[in-house]
Parts: sequence; C-alpha cells; structure tokens
Amino acid sequence: MKDRSTKAAQPKPSTLLYASLAAALTLAVGGVHAGATADALAPAGRWEGSTNGSAATPPMGWNSWNAFRTEVDEAKVLGAAQVMVDSGLAKLGYTQVNIDDGWWLKRRTGDGRLQIRTNIFPSAATGGPDGTSFKPFTDKLHAMGLKAGIYTDIGRNACSQAYDLHSPNLPQGSTAEREVGLEGHVTQDINLYFKEWGFDYIKIDACGLADFLPGSDLVKQQNYRAAAPLIERGSLNRTDIGAVRARYEAVIAALKAARPNNDYVLSICAWGMANVRSWGKDVGNLWRTSADITASWTSMLHNFDSAAKRALYAGPGHWNDPDILHIGHGAFDAANPVEVRSHFSLWAMINAPLLVSYDLRNGPASFLDVLGNAEVVGLNQDKGGHQGVVTYDSDDAQIIVKTLGDGQRKAVALFNRGATPAPVTLLASHLKLANGAPVTLRDLWSKQSTTFTGEKEFTLAPHETLVFEASGKRQLENGVYLSEIPGSINVAVDGTRQPQLDPTVHRMIDPWSNTRSGGSRPQYAGWGGAQADTTPYGQTLQVAGQVFDSGLGVLSNSRLQVRNDGGHALLTAAVGVDDSTDDTRQPVRFYVYGDGKLLAQSAPLAFGTKAQRLNADIRGVKIIELVVRGAKASAAPVVATWGDAQLVRAGAGAR
Ligand code: GLA
Repeated sequence: MKDRSTKAAQPKPSTLLYASLAAALTLAVGGVHAGATADALAPAGRWEGSTNGSAATPPMGWNSWNAFRTEVDEAKVLGAAQVMVDSGLAKLGYTQVNIDDGWWLKRRTGDGRLQIRTNIFPSAATGGPDGTSFKPFTDKLHAMGLKAGIYTDIGRNACSQAYDLHSPNLPQGSTAEREVGLEGHVTQDINLYFKEWGFDYIKIDACGLADFLPGSDLVKQQNYRAAAPLIERGSLNRTDIGAVRARYEAVIAALKAARPNNDYVLSICAWGMANVRSWGKDVGNLWRTSADITASWTSMLHNFDSAAKRALYAGPGHWNDPDILHIGHGAFDAANPVEVRSHFSLWAMINAPLLVSYDLRNGPASFLDVLGNAEVVGLNQDKGGHQGVVTYDSDDAQIIVKTLGDGQRKAVALFNRGATPAPVTLLASHLKLANGAPVTLRDLWSKQSTTFTGEKEFTLAPHETLVFEASGKRQLENGVYLSEIPGSINVAVDGTRQPQLDPTVHRMIDPWSNTRSGGSRPQYAGWGGAQADTTPYGQTLQVAGQVFDSGLGVLSNSRLQVRNDGGHALLTAAVGVDDSTDDTRQPVRFYVYGDGKLLAQSAPLAFGTKAQRLNADIRGVKIIELVVRGAKASAAPVVATWGDAQLVRAGAGAR
C-alpha cells in the first residue's frame, strides 16, 4: 500500500492512484458516579481484557506481501513454507504462513461464493459445484506442521483494487463479482475461510472503508460501487471510529461460530487509523499501528514508533502490530546487516509479530541466522507478554527494557536511530536493578557477556541495536513495579476525552507522495493513553516536585486492571496530580479495588499536593483495579500519577 496519510489529507480524486477543593471533588466524584463515565469507572471485578482468538505470544511466520505483492502464487508460498521447515525456523515458532492480497478471482454470482485464482493456486482447482477450494493447500501446510492465513477486506473491495491496478491478479468480472471483501458476506466468507478451507488466521484490511469514494476517478474508471468513507485518511475527526470498530466486532461473532474452540487469529489492518491503537486490543489479536512499512530506515522508524509507546495496550492474546518485517529488501537487504539486526531486534523487543516477508527460497543464509537467533526470538515469545518499555527516549538513541517471565530477568536494547555513532550510557536503574550490585549483560548477537556496576558506556554504530539479557540484584527484591509488567495490565478506560493524534511518531518523508504532501503530520490517535514510567504525554512522573522513576502515568477518569499473577500481598503507590498536568485546578481521587471491592482510596488531591501513599492488602485478590476519578467537566483531563506503584510479595515491606 501506498500513500496512507498524505493522500488522505488531500484527497485528489483525479490522482486516485495515490489517489473549592472538597466541594469541587464531591461534585466531581458525585458527577462521575452519576454519569455514563461512572459505569466505565466502576470496578468490573473480573478481567475485561479480550479473550477473542488465540495468540498467547506474538504471531510468527511468513507473509507474501512484501515479497511478492499481488504476484503471489502457490509455488512461492509453499516454497517459503518448505524453507521454514527445512531451516528449522518452524521449530523456533515461525509456523504461520499467510497469503496476502492477490489470491482471489471473483465472487460468484448466484451464491456469492468466492472463487480462487487457480492459475496461481493450481491446487485450488478442485472442480465440482464449489468451483475452487483452498482445502488442499491448507491441508498441505497443516501436514507440514504449519498454519495457514488468508487475507480479506472489511469493506467491499480490497486495497489492490485501488492501488495495484496494474496487477494481473485483480479480481475479475462485473462490479458485484469484484466485490470480494467481507461487507455483506461476513458469515458466509468467515465460514468459507475457517470451516471449509481450514484457515487459522485472517488479516482484514480496510481499504474498502477508505478508498472507493463517491465520484472518484477510481470508482468511475474501474466501475466500482462507491462507498462513503468511514475512514478518512488524514482526518481523525472525519473518521467514524465507532462504525469502523463495529465492522471488526461483527467479524468476531462469525469467527466464534466458525471456530468454537477459539483457535483463530484476527489481524486488524486499519493502519493505525480510526483510533485502533486504543481499541484494537479489545477486538483483535493484533492491529496495525501505522501505515505500510517500506524498505527504508525512516519507514522502519516510523512504524516502530507507532507501536513502541503502546506497551500497556499489548499483552498475551493482543499485540501492537507495526507491520510485517521488511528484512530482505532495500535498507534491510544482505548488504545492510546492522540494519537487518536492528529491525529484527526492535520488533522482538516490543512484542511485534515476527512475520518475515521476503522470498525465502532465494534469501541469503545470513538472514536465516538473524531470524534463527533463538535468544532474540525468545524475547519476543516470552510467556509474560510484557512489551518492552522505552526507558530512555530521544530522537537519537533509545533504551528499551523488557521484563521476562516472572520478572526476575530483563532484556535491554540500546538503539541508535541516527546515521552517526551514538554514545549511550546504560544505567542499572534503567533496568530497575540495584545501583551498587553487579549487573551481567549477555549480548544476544555476539554471545559475549560483560559485567558492570552502576553504569556502562557504549558507542553504537550508526543504526546499530545492541540487545542484552540482563541480570543483577533487582531494585525490588520482593516485588515488581507495575511498569515492569505491562502485559499483566489492561487499560480498561484511559480517560482521554476524545482521540488525539500522537506527535511522537517519526515523521518520515512519505514514500508515496514524497514532499508533494505539505509535510508529514501526526496521524495516529492514542496520544494521552496510559504509559509505563512516563506521563501519558511523555513527561517525567512527578508530584509536587517528587520525581518517580517508576510508576504508571494516566489521565483522570481512568481505570486500569492489573492481574495479580504472582500472588502478591500488597499494592503500594504514591499518588497525586502530576506536575505536568494542563488542568491545575481540579482535584482527583485515587481508588484501589480488589476483585471489585474497594481496598484503599486517597483524599481528594490537588495540583501541588504532596503524593499520598496508598497501601492495599491484595492477598487472595486476582484482579486489582486502579481508578482515578476527577471532574468530568474540566477543560482537559488531569494528569495523574501512580508513582512508585508496585506489587509486594507476602512477608516483605514496601521499599
Ligand atoms: C494494505 C495493507 C498491506 C497489504 C496491502 C495489500 O496496504 O496495509 O499490508 O495487505 O494492503 O493490498
């Protein structure tokens, strides 16, 4: 895909191709209790994170798109599958084989049954009354120990029908026959894909909701049925977020009926539009957080950034998706081993799906070495499902720290985003490890180990990412900071008043429209969402001058759920209005619930009031809920800080 942003910003049909305190608080809290928000802030007493589908760890495998675009065919896909098995990649977890756009011939008139393009998928020519079937193909993959993925669109038409008009593999026939997307056929198609054809995974694109505009040259020239856009590229306010979400939710019911065992994966491909970065976790197993990746360094940065600050929105079963890997092409070809390793390491650290997308049959062995690095893959597939948290952030270099398993081990990536060498000092405190004790680092690429105390300096080569597993004495020997375990947290209500565009995503020269577009602007919502170790707007957590290195940053009128997986006994946090808040007049109040029962609450806290320590006995509690209530009517949400928030094991005191 193509120009997903700027084209949107300026739709050009003619160039369609690229075509008083206590009183106030009483009021506030009372108001909150009485209003619609009240329901959302009331503790649920049970885990509300989605249980749709099966993706306990990020999906891994291969996708045809970056390798072949619509010029996919059976030999290419099965060839990739064979290499996955023969090379040992499949054993490492690369089991998903996904066909992207280009497979379809048409939707049959009469019964609306989709027909496969058998000249590129010959085994689908099964004949008989059904015409074609992917069953022989998925049987083959299954017999190889692999899983099969298919591609469709949530609207009537697919992306290739707008952006790959030169393709020999576009759907054929009448307007209706070329309507191969799910619209109007959700149950029929999902049954076909999952029950009849045996697919395990579906990627559902959204061009049908965005690109077939009434009166556009595309619609006229190609004789498509026009669709008023539910997604208006480049205009969040003109995008019907609720309607887009509802379209994807409707698919869940069909998937559940087709796969009562819940053994399906739903990949939402709405390119970070329609505020999907906030609701994707409640609907799908992965959701694209950005435009299509291209084989350039800045595109990789852009896509990485779109997912990297969303750690609290991912966890077992639901993953931020910065797009398929572009290893094998352009800036990530065999001549660029540093960039190849960086791209892969970064995706691994933020629990992105590891979907390879080059022609595996013809790739160099060096790529297999990268993809086959079991320790790096292990970071991505760690059962805790804690996405790495950006612990040090700048435009030049970043430090990303990921908690592994039970919280005793860490991985850390030092990432030089720039084109010149970067000095990077890693502190034990970045790792939430004790300052005075030795820290051991094992380099997962060179396999060398080193030890340091306090801090260690590195000089990173241009574009280099170093990845280490780290161990040492934990700052919290008897517990864990909540910001260390984002995979155990569900942001039930984030407190944002209305979706805002995230200004922190790298603004690349748009590869589709170059500098014709008027500039690269923030384009993905999610700004103001809950954050680990920073405020929702990326500021240091700080209450009345007291800085917290660890904690959760939220907005008022938010509710977070925390799984008490380790059977901890105490939740403790220092809470207050963050010094960075826009609204300095409204007080807020913090509440801790355990399995639906109120365990602790703060006084009404105003801007400038010292953080108040909250302790909650959580023995036997399964689901902790952290609620901040504030005035609904204030001009901007209050920035609220759960400073130093941690779970402490029985018998241990808070730090
Ligand atoms: C969109 C998606 C891509 C790919 C193409 C296929 O651009 O974002 O990942 O599926 O469509 O046409």
